[in-house]
Amino acid sequence: MWEHLTIERILSLFQAKSSWMQQENSIDLIFIDTSVDFMRTYADRTHHGKEEEILFRDLYRKKLSPEHARMMTELIEDHKYTRTLTGRLVEAKEKYVNGDKAALRDVVSCLKALAEFYPPHIEKEDKHFFFSIMDYFSKEE
Ligand SMILES: [Fe+2]
Ligand SMILES: [Fe+2]
Repeated sequence: MWEHLTIERILSLFQAKSSWMQQENSIDLIFIDTSVDFMRTYADRTHHGKEEEILFRDLYRKKLSPEHARMMTELIEDHKYTRTLTGRLVEAKEKYVNGDKAALRDVVSCLKALAEFYPPHIEKEDKHFFFSIMDYFSKEE
């Protein structure tokens, strides 16, 4: 949940910076590359890694309620979608760098989509999942 705070702080920059790029009709390439690195290294490998490869892995071994099972599947789908959006952002940036200036629109829309999609995902985990699934684990686990 602490990591969510860091992710939300960075995503608010995505929102602000994408509006700036739209206004200036220009792309900040260093910002894009840094954002992609953040999404892949921190949000995905580090943070989703802990969720999927530790927490969810252990939850798979429990007898989950249908509601918790459904939510876990949805959370995993959310992670996949953020990977897709990040991949699209890279593609749009490459197009722009290779001379397709119209790709700026796609860069902006990917950044905005990430900024808008992720906070509800965090809310699902923080408010509706993490605490309630603790009941499946013993104190030692
Ligand atoms: Fe997650
Ligand atoms: Fe999370």
